[in-house]
Amino acid sequence: MKHFINLDDLSNSDLSQIIDNGIALKKAHKSGQINKSLQNKTLAMIFDKSSTRTRVSFEAGMTQLGGHALFLSDRDIQIGRGESVVDTAIVIGSMVDAIMMRVSKHSDIVTFSQNANVPIINALSDESHPCQLLADMMTFKEHRGSIKGKTVAYIGDGNNMCHTYMQAANAFGFHLNIATPTDYRPQQIFIDKYQHCTSLSADAHLACSGADLVVTDVWASMGQEQEQGKRELAFANFQVNQMLMNNANADAVFMHCLPAHRGEEVSAGVIDGTQSLVWDEAQNRIHAQKSLLLYLLEK
Ligand code: CP
Ligand code: NVA
Repeated sequence: MKHFINLDDLSNSDLSQIIDNGIALKKAHKSGQINKSLQNKTLAMIFDKSSTRTRVSFEAGMTQLGGHALFLSDRDIQIGRGESVVDTAIVIGSMVDAIMMRVSKHSDIVTFSQNANVPIINALSDESHPCQLLADMMTFKEHRGSIKGKTVAYIGDGNNMCHTYMQAANAFGFHLNIATPTDYRPQQIFIDKYQHCTSLSADAHLACSGADLVVTDVWASMGQEQEQGKRELAFANFQVNQMLMNNANADAVFMHCLPAHRGEEVSAGVIDGTQSLVWDEAQNRIHAQKSLLLYLLEK
């Protein structure tokens, strides 16, 4: 049985196959084909943080494949009242076919994978957001072809998205230029593990030089709202604006996992401009994750 807790849970060739099948599933869906491959299958979706894209894409994705998705907020299930993670994992795992989790503690996702007898999908943790990278890689492929050998610039906070881009650089064979304020670098364990495919600096202009894709994310992630003011000061030189994009390659594209804050990590001109792929990127969550669900559940 396979889990999808980090990108490196799967082989590079399996990841590429999931992306390609995501593109095929999208075409099939748009042409009106019906796919009931996951009929009678249930996906449990556990959330202790907000979500627009992740919830809607997994829920609608299960519907498109003939299955069912169950939204479980920590406000409604007993885990929010103190039932243990292990007990919850055993019980939910005995009733459904797969579990998707968006939780504050990455270690809770790992605990689930050790105790629930079904595939576990990380739908964002404090450490990583692998589902988003499936959609991002699919989107780049649709618009620009293979990302192998390309240069990607990640500008901003060394957070869960940054970590997952580091893992993606290794898995998909691109070079990642990371620019963060010195106090907001990615975790050292990621810097050490992915130094062969990443460069780290505090210079956003330098990082964008020669980039085929420029990516950013919010300055204050979920759970860091009280640091908003402090972070706005620290990240003031890390806004992706047209000046920064002009430093990248002429045909460079822009991506952002969303939700975005125009005027903070990205200017309105860039996110709403011609280089931006954010709406395709968001829409592709559904097709990339349908492909992931088929991969995990049909094995
Ligand atoms: N990008 C993303 O995961 O969005 P949501 O927080 O809306 O799910
Ligand atoms: N880094 C952001 C990503 C949101 C999809 C967060 O964790 O809030």
